[in-house]
Formats: sequence, C-alpha cells, structure tokens
Amino acid sequence: MIRRCRKQDLNQVLDIERISFKYPYDRSIFLYFLMREPEGFFVDEEKGRIIGYAISSVIGIKGTIMSIAVMPELRRRGIGSNLIRESLNFLSKKVREVELQVRKDDQGAINFYKKSGFREAGLIFNYYPDNGDALIMSKILVND
Ligand SMILES: CC(C)(COP(=O)(O)OP(=O)(O)OC[C@H]1O[C@@H](n2cnc3c(N)ncnc32)[C@H](O)[C@@H]1OP(=O)(O)O)[C@@H](O)C(=O)NCCC(=O)NCCS
Repeated sequence: MIRRCRKQDLNQVLDIERISFKYPYDRSIFLYFLMREPEGFFVDEEKGRIIGYAISSVIGIKGTIMSIAVMPELRRRGIGSNLIRESLNFLSKKVREVELQVRKDDQGAINFYKKSGFREAGLIFNYYPDNGDALIMSKILVND
C-alpha cells in the first residue's frame, strides 16, 4: 500500500536509505522534506513494514525526485515503479517538467528512470563527494 510518509516511519526509511546509497541523506534531510512537502513523500507499506519510499518535491517551476529506494531483496518487482508513478502523479498537478540527478555510472537506476519515461538531459561533472559525475534526466509531464 502506497501512502504518505509519517514521522514514525522515518527509522525504517533511513534503514533503506543507508543500505541503498553510498552517500545517504541523514535524518535531518528527511525531516525537512516531511515538514516542507509531506504530500510529496510516499512510502510503500506491506504487512506493517516499510519496503520502499520516494520523495518528490517542487523546486521553482520544476519537480524533482529527491530520493527513491526499495529494500534490496524486494527490487525488480515493480515497487519502485509504483512509487515513482505516485510521485509523478503528485508532481503533475503542480509542474510540467521533472528533472533529477543520478550517478552517471549507475546503469541500473538510469534504466529504471528510462523505463519511467525519463530522458538524458545533461551532465554535471564532480557532482558527488567522491567526484563522481551526475547525469541529469528529465521528463515532461502531460496532463490529460
Ligand atoms: C532504482 C530502484 C528504486 C528501482 O526499484 P525497483 O522496485 O527495483 O524497480 P522496478 O521493479 O519497478 O523496475 C522497473 C524497471 O526498471 C528497470 N530496472 C530497475 N532496476 C534495474 C536494474 N538494477 N538494472 C536494470 N534495469 C533496472 C527495469 O526495466 C525494470 O523492469 P523489469 O524488472 O520488468 O525489467 C531500486 O533499484 C533501488 O532502490 N536502488 C537503490 C537506490 C537508487 O539507486 N535509487 C535511484 C537513484 S536516486
């Protein structure tokens, strides 16, 4: 079941974040998005357990996916697609374009975003703390 994130979900969300990313965001960033834009912060809860989350946000005239992750053992089952669909549905009510950054060497995540309709739109060199480059990906949202 996909629903809005609550403060009491954050420990489980952080566990998924830490296991999923080399440079995980810390609790204060998650708290910030939960306070600032709770309607864009989704979790997937199955049998009382959080198995994935997605944070979407409006920045100026564009939307972004700040972070999305699924528990490693439950990947490739459509959970990430369901979460990003909810996020894009939320953003489509507010903006016409979504832009995000992903590690240029993370082919799995790039494929995931392409499958969700994103296209490569640019590069940011030395974007990450280890000097890794970021690929900018974007998607035009069509409201029908
Ligand atoms: C990226 C992530 C959220 C995808 O979640 P998921 O639940 O596995 O995604 P889905 O099952 O909905 O995948 C949908 C499609 O995306 C593509 N895809 C997803 N993961 C992929 C991978 N590792 N390699 C290649 N293609 C992939 C596939 O086309 C897949 O469809 P298929 O399984 O029928 O082939 C998940 O792998 C994850 O948590 N990764 C670590 C965190 C991360 O990299 N986040 C994104 C960068 S910010």
